Amino acid sequence: MTSFASVGETEEIQRVVLIGFSGTGKSTIARTVAGVLDWTAIDTDRAIEIVATKSIPEIFAHDGEAAFRALERDVLLHSLRSRWAVIATGGGAVVPEDLWTAETLRAPGTFTVCLDAEPPTILDRLLRQQAITSETIERPLLAGDDPLGRITALKADRQAAYDRADLTLVTDTMSLDEVSQQIAALIASSDSPDVVLNAPGGRSEIYVRPGISAVVGSLAAEKWPRARKAFIVTDSNVGQLHEESVRTSMEAAGLVVEDITVAPGEASKSWATAGDVIGQMLDKGIQRTDIVVALGGGMIGDLAGFAAAVVLRGVALIQVPTSLLAMVDSSVGGKTGINYATGKNLIGAFYQPALVLADPNLLRTLPPRELNQGWSEVIKHAVIQPSTPDHFRNDLFRFLERNRANLTGLREPAITYAIRRNVALKSSVVEADEREASLRAILNYGHTIGHAIEAAGYEYLHGEAIAVGIRAANRIARLQDRIDDALEKRIGDLLTAYGLPESARFDTELVKAKMKSDKKSAAAVQTWVVPAQAGGVQLVTEVDASHVDQALDFVRSD
Ligand SMILES: NC(=O)c1ccc[n+]([C@@H]2O[C@H](COP(=O)([O-])OP(=O)(O)OC[C@H]3O[C@@H](n4cnc5c(N)ncnc54)[C@H](O)[C@@H]3O)[C@@H](O)[C@H]2O)c1
Repeated sequence: MTSFASVGETEEIQRVVLIGFSGTGKSTIARTVAGVLDWTAIDTDRAIEIVATKSIPEIFAHDGEAAFRALERDVLLHSLRSRWAVIATGGGAVVPEDLWTAETLRAPGTFTVCLDAEPPTILDRLLRQQAITSETIERPLLAGDDPLGRITALKADRQAAYDRADLTLVTDTMSLDEVSQQIAALIASSDSPDVVLNAPGGRSEIYVRPGISAVVGSLAAEKWPRARKAFIVTDSNVGQLHEESVRTSMEAAGLVVEDITVAPGEASKSWATAGDVIGQMLDKGIQRTDIVVALGGGMIGDLAGFAAAVVLRGVALIQVPTSLLAMVDSSVGGKTGINYATGKNLIGAFYQPALVLADPNLLRTLPPRELNQGWSEVIKHAVIQPSTPDHFRNDLFRFLERNRANLTGLREPAITYAIRRNVALKSSVVEADEREASLRAILNYGHTIGHAIEAAGYEYLHGEAIAVGIRAANRIARLQDRIDDALEKRIGDLLTAYGLPESARFDTELVKAKMKSDKKSAAAVQTWVVPAQAGGVQLVTEVDASHVDQALDFVRSD
């Protein structure tokens, strides 16, 4: 079994350096992560006190801040030579830029994690810490009458240094234990799936790790020992890049491989192509015990998933998503289907893939525009998070704000972590409501107008249309006074920061007609998913026609 154990391109992680402001839990998390991994925990503040044989407040008082910083630097440089260590650093330790070199904090095998928290959370934690221990590292922060102001200003000052981390985790609402487990899970190897989705319609075991697609054969053979053949359904773009490694892995596990390649593009999500794919499966002798592998983006996942659901009344399905959109969204949850002339996904089945193998390495061949569009479903998840069973974490929006460069650069381990969290969030929604009787409808945030723009036949990718749909839904929420200007701007800014469009060219009447024929409005009343000021989204059926027109005007470019 492959495990996640690298940072950057190839280097195995040998040390974790926890950075961030005081009060973000670095020392406790270092101890817990080290305990889980059976590594050593190093606390640079404690090490300084041992070297200086006095407490940090005493060093500040007797020797001054410059002496403290020099000592802190020496201790940090010394700690960075350790292997199999989790190092908790002082709040200001990593600020000097010259510590971020390939010999120091960016050395091969060094994984820097910033623990982030909002200033009020930090103040609260420091006050509690002081009450318990009567000792805080940056005690001057708490002195005087505006500690919150001082924390806010100092954190802002240091933010550029903190943002150099390989991964920033938002810790305000997560327990220190959960943060520790998440960090350890990025390093420790495990045979268990990263996420398990248990829905009434079936169980999905989901692995999200670099290199996992190359071991699909052994996982399949273990799960379905009676399988004889694997039918790999792919499109010609993905096929020429990634099919060979999947085929080799299947053959090494003793399976006979049949491949079925369709033309790339949404047009293949059709009745005709589905008929052809199912026909090929039958002609090639598919049996009930055989396996279908959907190797591709969301189009292939939906098409091959539908074929697997109906051929011989259902055969085993493995999703190997290859686009970002498919990894974070379409491969998880069991919706499969094809389009019809009057709308998208009007024919299909709920059919859970027993295995989903998301391999972030495959994203490296994805064309930039295709990668970009995937972020819209990620941002959708971040906005809806407070309305999902994952609500108590409520961290994904700030996580996306803080980690943009590492995520859009597909840097490890940030990208693996982000996909895992998105998959877990979507799974939690699907587990609560597999058939979209209620909660699952919140996943349609941005889709009412987004799908209509797509169905109207414009040259926009799914995620691009959804981004425009999200902006339009936000506008409706603003017009209804459900959100303020600041929240509308914050969501819009995040979409823009991830390279998503602000508007689209379309004919308003055509898009309105498509909205009516889309199946989500089949119940006569259109349900809108709009953001709420307190966080999360609401389902709304009462929207003035004039507000819909204004929202469409808002996102239409001429
Ligand atoms: N079932 C669901 O829950 C669900 C959810 C969201 C979207 N969808 C569906 O997903 C589809 C959109 O998915 P998509 O954006 O992945 O489209 P896609 O499958 O058409 O892939 C986009 C393009 O990228 C290429 N590609 C994919 N992976 C690649 C890789 N690793 N390297 C190089 N090229 C690669 C494909 O050949 C294609 O040209 C839509 O049909 C949408 O309705 C389904």
